[in-house]
Amino acid sequence: MQQINISTDITVFNTHNELSGPDHQLVDAAIEACANAYAPYSAFHVGAAVLLANGEIITGTNQENAAYPSGLCAERVAIFYANSKYPKVAVKAIAIAAKNEDGLIPNPVAPCGACRQVMLETELRFKSNFYTLLIGKEQVYKIEKVKDLLPLCFTGEELKSKK
Ligand code: THU
Repeated sequence: MQQINISTDITVFNTHNELSGPDHQLVDAAIEACANAYAPYSAFHVGAAVLLANGEIITGTNQENAAYPSGLCAERVAIFYANSKYPKVAVKAIAIAAKNEDGLIPNPVAPCGACRQVMLETELRFKSNFYTLLIGKEQVYKIEKVKDLLPLCFTGEELKSKK
């Protein structure tokens, strides 16, 4: 028997002011986007800001539905829109923020599993790793590549014929 340990490096910024200028701008874009969420069922307003290789920032918000599973998370709205508008432009970074009735949530918000899988596909598609900024009220976590957020990931390699 054997044990394998998988670890993830996270850079922790203890205040938003510790961020670099471009990261601060992306974080602010995600926070601002929360105002555009459509979240009448959860009252959890999520904003995602995607930085593209062409310098453009695309934002997305969660879009809920009375038939709950028909809704979509902010991260996927932002990534799918960015990839639809610029199918040949790689993603460089994504920042994610969430607000409830008390404002920005205290702890850095983490993307759900389905969003992580879509983020992974985006890295693989453009053959380009990108970093993620998880935003809390005070702290921001920076994770260098999506595979760090999704260990033991399903990449699709397994679908290819071995013949
Ligand atoms: N949600 C996101 O948009 N992103 C996340 O990372 C977590 C959850 C949304 C889905 C749903 O509209 C609401 O937040 C509550 O789960």
